[in-house]
Amino acid sequence: MNARSLVDTAKALVAPGKGILAADESTRTIGSRFDSIGVENTETNRRDYREMLFRTPGVDQFISGVILYDETLRQNCADGGSMVDLLTGRGIMPGVKVDNGAQQLAGAPGELITEGLDGLRDRLREYRDLGARFTKWRAVIAIGRDIPSEYCIEVNAHALARYAALAQEAGLVPIIEPEVMLDGDHSIDRCGEVTEATLREVYAQLARHRALLEGTLLKANMVVSGRDATERADSCEVAEKTVDCLMRSVPAAAAGVVFLSGGQSDEESTANLNAICKRGNERGAPWELSFSFARGLQSAPMSAWAGSAANAAAAQEIFHTRAVLTSAARCGKYTPPKTAAR
Ligand code: 13P
Repeated sequence: MNARSLVDTAKALVAPGKGILAADESTRTIGSRFDSIGVENTETNRRDYREMLFRTPGVDQFISGVILYDETLRQNCADGGSMVDLLTGRGIMPGVKVDNGAQQLAGAPGELITEGLDGLRDRLREYRDLGARFTKWRAVIAIGRDIPSEYCIEVNAHALARYAALAQEAGLVPIIEPEVMLDGDHSIDRCGEVTEATLREVYAQLARHRALLEGTLLKANMVVSGRDATERADSCEVAEKTVDCLMRSVPAAAAGVVFLSGGQSDEESTANLNAICKRGNERGAPWELSFSFARGLQSAPMSAWAGSAANAAAAQEIFHTRAVLTSAARCGKYTPPKTAAR
C-alpha cells in the first residue's frame, strides 16, 4: 500500500472549495429517479444523462471527484471516448461504488446488511486498472421502534472496515458511509444518539482492521430530525448537534467528512451543510468538512434535462448553479436565494 498516495488522494477530494458528486445510483435506483421525470431507464439514457453532467462547463472548479456506478466506470461517451478519460481530462477524479447493496439482515426484522465482500479484492484491482482512484461502500442504519440493534450496527461496521482495509491495500481511498436514515418520525436527538453509536463502532472496527485513517473519508449523514417528525430542527440546531456528534466520535486523523444529502431538498441540504461547515470551523474541527451529494446536486438538473438533448444546456446551467451554491456552503459562505421558499 502506498500510504502517501492514499493520503494525497483523500486530501485532494476535500481540497478547499471542492467536494464530491455522487452519481453512483444503481440501475434500479436511477430507474426510480427516471420514472419520476418520465424517462425510460435504458443504458443510452443513463449515459446521456451522466455525460451531460460530467461535461458541464466550469464544474471542475467545485467538484473534485465523481462516484460512479460499475456500468459508468466501464462506459464510453457518445463520441467513443471513455467516461473515465472525460473526467480525468477535466481534473476530476473518478471513483466507484463497490458494495452490492443492502439485504435483509438475518435474525433482525427491518434491518439491513450491506453485501459485496466476496471477491472484492479482485474487483478492486480491476477498478484500479480501469482508472478509479477512490471507492465507496454504503451501510444502511434505519431508525425505528427498537432499532437499530447493536447487532446491526456491529456487523455493518465490521463490513465497512473489511472493505476499507481491502480498498487501501489496492491503493484506493475508501469512502466509508454508514448512513443513518432520514425516514421516520424520530427526534433530532435520537438521530444524534444513533449516529454517535454507529460512528464509534465504525472507528473501533477501522482500528481493528488497521485502516490508515489519514487515507480515508467518512461519508456521514447530518444529524437531523426524522422526515415525518412533528417538529423539525432548524439549521442552527442541526449544525450544533452534527458537530457535537462528529467531535465525539470521529478521530482527528481522518482526512475529511463529506455529507450526503439523504433525501433532504436541495435547498435544505445546502443550508444545513453551510451551517455545519461554519460551526465546525468555529469550533476548530480537525477534519475538512465537505459534501458528497447525489440528490442535493442532481434533483434540479435531472428535472430540467427530462431525457431530451435539447434541454442539455439548460440542465448544465442549473447543475453549475447547484455546484456553485454547494461549494459556497462547504466554505460556510452560502446565502439562500431570495426566491427560495424555506
Ligand atoms: P444523497 O446525497 O442523495 O443522499 O446520495 C448520496 C449517496 O451517495 C448515498 O449513498
